[in-house]
Amino acid sequence: MFSSLAHRYDLANHLLSLNQDKRWRKAVVRWANPQAGQHLLDLCTGTGDLALDFAKAADIQVTGIDISDKMLAIAADKTKHIGFDHRINYDEGNVLELPYPDHQFDLATIAFGLRNLPNYEQGLREMFRVLKPGGQLLILEFSLPKGIWGKLYLWYLKNILPHIGGWITGKKDAYQYLDQSIRDFPAREDLSDLMRSIGFQDIGIRSFQGGIALIHQGLKPQ
Ligand SMILES: C[S@@+](CC[C@H](N)C(=O)[O-])C[C@H]1O[C@@H](n2cnc3c(N)ncnc32)[C@H](O)[C@@H]1O
Repeated sequence: MFSSLAHRYDLANHLLSLNQDKRWRKAVVRWANPQAGQHLLDLCTGTGDLALDFAKAADIQVTGIDISDKMLAIAADKTKHIGFDHRINYDEGNVLELPYPDHQFDLATIAFGLRNLPNYEQGLREMFRVLKPGGQLLILEFSLPKGIWGKLYLWYLKNILPHIGGWITGKKDAYQYLDQSIRDFPAREDLSDLMRSIGFQDIGIRSFQGGIALIHQGLKPQ
């Protein structure tokens, strides 16, 4: 699905979120506060926007992994064009079976990716496995606000967003899937509990736009 809309993915993201997606990714970078020499794994890296934000912020090594070669081709082009290919490498692979040894990365991030995995728990277990002890995971994901704002947002997701998304990308069904995947994704407390059950500690949450987007953080114990 992502391969089929890769060429319009960035444009659709920025238009549909009124550019807020850029602000949310930058908030992930600020929270991680990357230090020179660290190694970051950006899972479901897509067209590489979060990987690039990290590479611009500090002299770190970034590995981006994604299952879609088309998304990765766009990421690699952008990275080369901006001149950051010395800091970022991209791997094609499945987040549910990461091709890396245990205890490899200082930081792991996943932006708008966890919701797309057929098994959230297995994905989180893989992230836990490849992080070093003391390593930090940051998850940026859509969520459903509570109350009247949540009801309005659901109405927008169901009735408006697929039309605009379809118009921009030619793939209306992808944006109908977005609506369903946001409804199916665990609520903030349930995701925190799942992270704790895998072994993450110090779970923290930041909320944006009344709960439309959340960042969950967890640390792998020392
Ligand atoms: C909504 S995009 C997010 C891209 C990017 N992180 C961003 O912030 O815009 C989700 C990405 O997850 C990737 N993806 C879905 N399932 C995956 C899996 N099992 N392993 C690796 N990547 C996967 C898709 O190919 C797609 O590029």
